[in-house]
Amino acid sequence: MYQTLLTELQDGTLVITVNRPDKMNALNKDVIEELGQAMDAAIANADVKTILLTGAGEKAFVAGADISEFTSLDANGGAALAQKGQDHVFDKIENCPKPVIAAVNGFSLGGGCELAMACHFRVASENAKFGQPEVNLGLIPGYGGTQRLTQLIGKGKTMELMMTGDMISATEAKERGLVNHVFPLADLLAEAKKIAQKIQTKAPLAIAEVIACVNEAAKSNPAGFSNEIARFGKLFATLDMKEGVNAFLEKRKAIFKGE
Ligand code: COA
Repeated sequence: MYQTLLTELQDGTLVITVNRPDKMNALNKDVIEELGQAMDAAIANADVKTILLTGAGEKAFVAGADISEFTSLDANGGAALAQKGQDHVFDKIENCPKPVIAAVNGFSLGGGCELAMACHFRVASENAKFGQPEVNLGLIPGYGGTQRLTQLIGKGKTMELMMTGDMISATEAKERGLVNHVFPLADLLAEAKKIAQKIQTKAPLAIAEVIACVNEAAKSNPAGFSNEIARFGKLFATLDMKEGVNAFLEKRKAIFKGE
């Protein structure tokens, strides 16, 4: 039914798997479109009680937005990309009345880290790595990362990760509160399903209110999300962004000039 996703519903738990393993499950236009559709379908389907989000293969959860789609975008196009993603996928996941758990099975970078953070909570495999490396492309996160990472791990470490582009291990992510549990890769989905099954024994209406209330508590500045989109878009008009994206695609180091 989907070109870029696999879905499997078992015992009330829907597993949605982003399925582009040869491209590290990067979020291209089709994945964004289909993730939004899959979330709409999951919310509407009474048989779906809980949702797990994961990536295909053993290397990546999602290694970010698809950088190859950035080359054709100007400032308006960059802002539109971020707006579409936030509206169609990230906010939909965050506000889903059914629990959405990220089972992070490898690289969770850029838009991938943002996707995991839009979920209600995260569990990870031992090989998982988290980061917001957009600065290497002359960009910033555009799918709510500046807001949600600050909420989850605090200002100082968020600043460092977004300025250096460094990755942190699953263990460090757990220490910092970015993920709740770390499991061996082979056990990740089964362990995540156990948590989902436990939640399914609780009152669904109460669970939906927990989600709404905790989301309200975490969102100190809703305008931060739209400001991020505007700033993300603006950077698409810079030479540094073109250099960063070309350098990634040409597999070389970028040379930035602040232009
Ligand atoms: N967008 C588009 N393609 C991507 C991608 C992305 N975000 N991440 C990985 N890919 C592609 C690579 O271009 C490569 O394609 P190719 O085989 O056609 O050359 C393929 O996925 C495998 O990636 P590769 O870089 O060869 O694997 P690796 O194990 O050496 O490195 C990563 C893995 C995740 C560290 C590296 O791919 C990476 O840094 N990706 C970009 C992360 C990023 O900047 N994300 C933020 C985007 S806003």
